[in-house]
Amino acid sequence: MYYFIEAMTEDDIPYVQVIERQSFTTPWSANTYRREIRDLQHCRYVIARASPTPPGQLPRRPTPTPPRPFGVLSQLVSIFLPESPAHAPSSLPPDPTPIVGYGGIWLTVDDAHITTIAVDPTYRGQGVGELLLNALIDHAYDLGAHQITLEVRISNTGAQRLYLKYGFQPGGTRPRYYTDNSEDALIMWTEGINTAEFKARLAELRRQLVVRLQRQADG
Ligand SMILES: CC(C)(COP(=O)(O)OP(=O)(O)OC[C@H]1O[C@@H](n2cnc3c(N)ncnc32)[C@H](O)[C@@H]1OP(=O)(O)O)[C@@H](O)C(=O)NCCC(=O)NCCS
Repeated sequence: MYYFIEAMTEDDIPYVQVIERQSFTTPWSANTYRREIRDLQHCRYVIARASPTPPGQLPRRPTPTPPRPFGVLSQLVSIFLPESPAHAPSSLPPDPTPIVGYGGIWLTVDDAHITTIAVDPTYRGQGVGELLLNALIDHAYDLGAHQITLEVRISNTGAQRLYLKYGFQPGGTRPRYYTDNSEDALIMWTEGINTAEFKARLAELRRQLVVRLQRQADG
């Protein structure tokens, strides 16, 4: 299987929501995703797709709905429209290159904040999470961030290992951060992403990831 990254579009949201419901107890609404996707000044959202053939050999996909500019009017429209359910419809049209993961990043001054990242449970453990994290790190560079931060549940040691692998370090907790069970959040930070040390680690991890993904694709 081949995996590749694309920018998330509004057409992708129902598919993203399916994975989100399988991954998180307090999923975002479709309107929240729309607001984030439209805020191109501060946010970047990506999806990972799976394909049995190399992405370069795929037929062209229909042009996705372009994101509408994020302005006061669209904010008001989003607020006054009835909120779409946080759960997506159960029957979505089948997709030959299904969305298998997604993630997002949000810039505040110099810091990029990973707002969300998740992989379809049936595709976990194959490097898709790493692929998504790398795409988000690239976007952090594009947005001019100096550091990357995130919150992760204290109990979520699998995700923490992913972040540790990429040089994130624990930097405190936010007590009772998660509203569903009052669990604490662990705050994790990278060192400066423009340091030679961070870039060298990233380059080596990317080299290893390419080898891993290529080996999987070759079967
Ligand atoms: C966290 C998550 C995105 C990882 O995605 P994934 O595709 O399974 O991860 P990868 O296959 O790319 O794994 C990369 C690295 O992450 C770490 N890792 C990921 N899942 C792990 C697990 N269950 N246990 C231990 N380490 C894990 C490992 O270091 C792994 O590297 P390795 O294969 O060299 O050991 C995925 O488990 C997920 O969607 N979880 C639910 C949502 C979630 O918790 N998101 C994070 C919110 S902060």
